[in-house]
Amino acid sequence: MNRWTLFLILATALSLVACARPELASSDQLARGEVLYSLHCIQCHTDGRGDALNPPLFGSAKIRGQPSATIRNILYGQQHESIVSGKKLGGIMPALDYLTDEEVADVATYVRFRFGNVTHPVQPAEVAAQRPAR
Ligand code: HEC
Repeated sequence: MNRWTLFLILATALSLVACARPELASSDQLARGEVLYSLHCIQCHTDGRGDALNPPLFGSAKIRGQPSATIRNILYGQQHESIVSGKKLGGIMPALDYLTDEEVADVATYVRFRFGNVTHPVQPAEVAAQRPAR
């Protein structure tokens, strides 16, 4: 086997390994998301368990579902839709649409990772796609 054949086999093998790896959120993005969570979300959602007015994020089906659901929650807020233990909650979530696309992507990545075990990173372009058309 000449060197070129060996090189081609190795290059093919490496690119297959790279493709098979699922895309993971970077530790940088998660760290930025954690800071944003403590600035913009923790006052209501506490450590993820929520309280009498605010729903827990741990175990939220929304968080584990399509990223667009979490993104839209942040951009548009939510009023009296959550039912926890059979009761509608009293709290309302304001629209946090003053956050930039990058900030929403980072905090959405963080909450999905932390409370929903989703390791897939949310991209700023996915946030831009959910903003109202101008
Ligand atoms: C002022 C309080 C407040 C802040 C700040 C806030 N939320 Fe909320 N959030 C709520 C309330 C209250 C609800 C439920 C509203 C309802 O019942 O319709 C909610 C609902 C949600 C839901 C939907 C949960 C489900 O399972 O239906 C998600 C996801 C969420 N918030 C994420 C966030 C993130 C991420 C941030 C920060 C970027 C944030 N929230 C900031 C109060 C808040």
